[in-house]
Amino acid sequence: MSATGSQRRLTPSRIQAMKSGTPIVSLTAYTTPMARLLDEHCDLLLVGDSVGMVLYGMESTIAVTLDMMIAHGKAVMRGVRKSCVVVDMPFGSYQEGREIAYRNAVRILQETGCDAVKLEGGREMAETISFLVERGIPVLGHIGLMPQQVNAAGGYRSVGHSEREVAKIRTDAEAVGNSGAFAVVVEGTVEEFAREVTAAIPVPTIGIGASVACDGQILVSDDMLGLFNDFTPRFVKRYDELGTRVGLAVAAYAGDVRSRAFPADEHTFKRRS
Ligand code: KIV
Repeated sequence: MSATGSQRRLTPSRIQAMKSGTPIVSLTAYTTPMARLLDEHCDLLLVGDSVGMVLYGMESTIAVTLDMMIAHGKAVMRGVRKSCVVVDMPFGSYQEGREIAYRNAVRILQETGCDAVKLEGGREMAETISFLVERGIPVLGHIGLMPQQVNAAGGYRSVGHSEREVAKIRTDAEAVGNSGAFAVVVEGTVEEFAREVTAAIPVPTIGIGASVACDGQILVSDDMLGLFNDFTPRFVKRYDELGTRVGLAVAAYAGDVRSRAFPADEHTFKRRS
């Protein structure tokens, strides 16, 4: 049997083995060209349901569908050679019951060819995660701030500030960390708590707005590249200002077109003979 593309990619088990070792580098990707750019530098690419807000201008991730996730999962897989690819299960595709979660996760794996799925939830989702993992579906957990809970939580707020919140995340981390998930995303929480969870659970924690104490980090690529000019979460370090640079490039093009400086001679076809 010859080696296939998937055999060259990092597997969920290899990501799991990075616990307490070299920090895991991960970013979101939604398209083939972006996946090609990120693949070389990342261990894990997440086709996040943040695609709804980032690419479709939605207010939240609630309206993102399974078909959207599958379409973007396929696009990302076309651009990846070595990173482990995880596709988010969207709101409503797994909470109702473990059999439905299994059916939808199978669709994601079979139709995209990705390596694993991610789902949000604490103690209440641990049984579903075990059900999927025992049946051959690698799962990345997601605890702390859970964007799909935005309506119930009344907004996007970091968690772990009160005794009640700390007790809840502690229970969630324990349950998801021991459910069979190969790693757990920990979003929007204080360093003290991220450190405690990272030490307590047997699988890597991948932090987003959760301090350096985690086993790895993930960011929304468009945020760290500065592609948005309207809103960037406070915890995001912007490594570039691509939004501003796109604006300047397009303004230069518009200026050239209006002044008939474009297309210049070198961009104009000439008769061959
Ligand atoms: O949807 C997403 O992009 C995510 C990450 C921000 C962790 O869940």
